[in-house]
Amino acid sequence: MSTMMRQVVLASYAKGSPVAANFRVEQAPIPTPGAGEVLVRTLWLSLDPLIRFALDEVRITGATHLHPGDVIYGGTISQVVASHHPDYAVGDYVEGRTGWREYAALDPIKADPVRGALRKLDPELAPLETALGVLGMTGQTAHACMVGIGRVAADETVVISAAGGAVGTIAGQIGKLKGARVVGIAGGADKCAAVRALGFDDCVDYKAPDFAEQLKAAVPGGIDVYVDNVGGDVTLAVMPLLKYRARMPVCGYIAYYGVGMEGPGPDHLPGFFRMIMSKGLELRGFGGQFVGGDAAIAELAVWLDSGRISYPVTVVNGLENAAATFCESFIPGNSHIGKVLVKIAAP
Ligand SMILES: NC(=O)c1ccc[n+]([C@@H]2O[C@H](COP(=O)([O-])OP(=O)(O)OC[C@H]3O[C@@H](n4cnc5c(N)ncnc54)[C@H](OP(=O)(O)O)[C@@H]3O)[C@@H](O)[C@H]2O)c1
Repeated sequence: MSTMMRQVVLASYAKGSPVAANFRVEQAPIPTPGAGEVLVRTLWLSLDPLIRFALDEVRITGATHLHPGDVIYGGTISQVVASHHPDYAVGDYVEGRTGWREYAALDPIKADPVRGALRKLDPELAPLETALGVLGMTGQTAHACMVGIGRVAADETVVISAAGGAVGTIAGQIGKLKGARVVGIAGGADKCAAVRALGFDDCVDYKAPDFAEQLKAAVPGGIDVYVDNVGGDVTLAVMPLLKYRARMPVCGYIAYYGVGMEGPGPDHLPGFFRMIMSKGLELRGFGGQFVGGDAAIAELAVWLDSGRISYPVTVVNGLENAAATFCESFIPGNSHIGKVLVKIAAP
């Protein structure tokens, strides 16, 4: 076996949307696990917009902040190949945030400062990679948007931005299970067609010149729940259509991830807060995995197992393609559908 591995490190802090030049693929020795540690081999890598928070020169929010030369932070599915820990055996499959590298040596109990221990997976229960999507953080987030925070009920109207993404594709299907009318917003005719094929009642292309009018026509009675994944102009078009006492899970705001605390001006905040007050809106920011918890995974597993929801994925092969594919996620109207994964190795 080779003693060297590949890893992706931060080459430079991202300014605005990330670009491939912010990342560098390099060779490094395969680490040796110390006392109490395990050596894991990466099988799958999850590309999540939240990684962008770790790439700012000055940390604003987010648990992880990287410096040039650091391995890029990110969720993975791995297999234990050496173990000095009694609870983790060689051959075990685990999920954690072990980063953009082919191998990692770490204490499996303190693997992540926020989420704690590596989560053991049973490949008999579900395909391993679902633990990064529908049965993982993005599934928990979709569940939190629709169940925990959105409290979506039958016959309500739900609008979901970034509807073709990992969170949106699952959130929309949960909305249909709850008996709601579900309208997605996505970039481009092809992505809207893919969103409708998942069972959404409608999907509106935010790149269309008459987007605001199309959205208004798609929700004639107004909006009860708006799952905001995007912010910016998309959310400004949604605002006037919110009903009195609408709920708005503020899940993400990818349109602004590159602009730090500055943001393009004017920021519309005075009008926005007036609307919060006068429409009695409930807005709540949240970490989906903490709201959804284990109960969300259990319920999603039942829905997946019974075929009531499906699990769209976009898969690319090889660590060398991780950075370019991650950067594409920040290009509005990209070709990604569902959870974006990088296949690193076969089990
Ligand atoms: N609160 C939490 O716990 C939590 C957890 C997971 C994710 N999130 C957030 O939820 C959002 C969706 O995450 P995800 O995992 O579903 O992401 P994803 O699968 O990577 O999808 C992101 C999609 O956002 C759209 N997009 C990108 N830039 C845009 C812009 N400027 N304007 C409009 N749309 C844009 C693109 O789709 P189009 O082709 O349609 O433009 C892109 O494919 C992100 O903001 C993410 O940070 C929050």
